[in-house]
Amino acid sequence: MSEVRIAASVLSCDFGHLERELAAVASSDLLHLDVMDGHYVPNLSFGQPLIARIRELSTLPLDAHLMVTNPAAYIDPLADLGVGWISFHQECEFHVHRLVQRIHDRGLKAGIALNPAVPLSTLECILPELDYVLLMSVNPGFSGQKFIPAVLDKVSRLHEMIEQRGLATLIEVDGGVNSSNSSALIQSGADILVSASHIFQHPDRAAAISSLRGPKP
Ligand code: DX5
Ligand code: ZN
Repeated sequence: MSEVRIAASVLSCDFGHLERELAAVASSDLLHLDVMDGHYVPNLSFGQPLIARIRELSTLPLDAHLMVTNPAAYIDPLADLGVGWISFHQECEFHVHRLVQRIHDRGLKAGIALNPAVPLSTLECILPELDYVLLMSVNPGFSGQKFIPAVLDKVSRLHEMIEQRGLATLIEVDGGVNSSNSSALIQSGADILVSASHIFQHPDRAAAISSLRGPKP
């Protein structure tokens, strides 16, 4: 089993001190960017000017999570800004294979995000094309929500599906992740853990990041 990767979600950072905040999470493996349009989710977050600034201030790979009704419109602008990973919610796109292909054509990693109530069976036809699946463990839109425990079993079942099919697809878990559930998530097969509030509400961001990696073997 390879080491879990931690994606710090900037949604909960202090945007008034962006440079300092990004420096404080330099020990994470990815920066998670929650792009929200106020339609797919009842919240607005941030757009391209802020992502451009984040790109200038951090060398970490940027992982964009599109919570928008028209994800296709965001692929080129985000790729141009240097984002390396893009996930979108499957129900927002009629032509899922085509959009995954477009992400790959730009040289990026492509993921599908599933809300907690969306079954894994919806991945059956697209799974082999994906670099990762983002399993939401809260309903998207806000940071600071409570982890939905049923997602733990969903992680195990997805892990099993991936193994059975001999795929290398990574599992990313997003929402309510903290040091009380991270070990169980890693044991269930999570490869990437996203966290906003656990990291950015902790006075020591680096300690919060390492607390998610679980006990050292
Ligand atoms: C929720 C976002 C998450 C959010 C996680 O819509 O997709 O990435 O930032 O926040 P926490 O870790 O506080 O649940
Ligand atoms: Zn997210």
